[in-house]
Amino acid sequence: MYNLTQITENLCYLGANDRRIALFESAFPVPRGVSYNSYLLTDEKTVLFDTVDSAVADRFFENLEEALGGRPLDYVVVHHMEPDHSASFLRLIEKYPAVTVVTSQKTAKMLENYFPFSGKNVTVVKEGDTMSVGKRSICFVSAPMVHWPEVIMSYIPEEGVLFSADAFGTFGALGGSIFADEVFFERDFLDDARRYYFNIVGKYGIQVQNVLKKAAGLDIRLICPLHGPVWRKDIGWFLGKYDTWSKYLPEEKGAVVFYASVYEHTQNAAEIVATELAKAGVPVKVYDVSHTHVSNLLSEAFRYSHLVFCSTTYNNGVFISMENFIADLKAHFFQNRSYALVENGSWSPQAGALMEAEFSAMKNMKKVGETVTVLSSVKADSREALKALAAAVAADLS
Ligand code: FEO
Repeated sequence: MYNLTQITENLCYLGANDRRIALFESAFPVPRGVSYNSYLLTDEKTVLFDTVDSAVADRFFENLEEALGGRPLDYVVVHHMEPDHSASFLRLIEKYPAVTVVTSQKTAKMLENYFPFSGKNVTVVKEGDTMSVGKRSICFVSAPMVHWPEVIMSYIPEEGVLFSADAFGTFGALGGSIFADEVFFERDFLDDARRYYFNIVGKYGIQVQNVLKKAAGLDIRLICPLHGPVWRKDIGWFLGKYDTWSKYLPEEKGAVVFYASVYEHTQNAAEIVATELAKAGVPVKVYDVSHTHVSNLLSEAFRYSHLVFCSTTYNNGVFISMENFIADLKAHFFQNRSYALVENGSWSPQAGALMEAEFSAMKNMKKVGETVTVLSSVKADSREALKALAAAVAADLS
């Protein structure tokens, strides 16, 4: 049965939630599920903004039929071709064969690649194009690599509505209210929004900055993303988060100690550093990189200003989980942070030098203190070195 929320008199939310999904994009755990958002504008013409993932397609089609109220569907705007939004496209075309598809040139080609789709009834739009649908018009904004190359956003100037595609989305299913101002967003969604941003579009900070510059010229009163809550209040606060994130700047001053430990000794070293940081008044967190999903590690690394990486040496390299984490940081253009290093090894410790080679190749990374070497287990001298390292990090933070 349909389950709709009216956003404005003429704009309806048609999306639905998937709480059974384990891994979004087969990569990112989503224990709180995810929403797939879709919207219908009813003016002199009816305009659907995106479809949904196949997991929630049945509910979506019931919602669409109810929201149309017997009217034909005139347009479907395809902002983004990734199947979490386009998987229901062919079913839509079969159900509403007269609909005109409005999309970018790149998406038009992708539709033919993904589906047995003839490409008829397609109107290609580009940056700056405007389409009247009655009392309202729809302006199109190019947003390449946010988060695929074909992405467009659209904007209804008469009502200040931005359909932002993946941007301003978040992991986490919606429950009851679809509006960010009706949930405790900072408490319940911000961590997932940050993790979503850095893992999904974090690599494309320059492109996100380009979109934010375009957005600055618009009177945005409503943001309708493809995942997570709809924004109609405090929009500037969330735009500010995106500005900080896409500039690769720390969101908070504080330290995170990441460790990879096999027999607890490297963990012991990491926790001595963390304890000394806390004693110095530094906000600090500790993560075992072998036990926390790398998507969370990535998000936390981008959140804070100072990072301490502690790894045992393994097969003459950095321990597997730490090596994987650092590779993920590198893939997402990690930069602009201070870092400190602790290595462990029983006969040939070299994880420190190998980690330093990775971090020193990243942009604007500042090493704090000397790499502390632990030989098998922490002794009195290495304990003092760990305390000195924590003091150096605390001093750098002050
Ligand atoms: Fe939600 Fe890039 O798809």
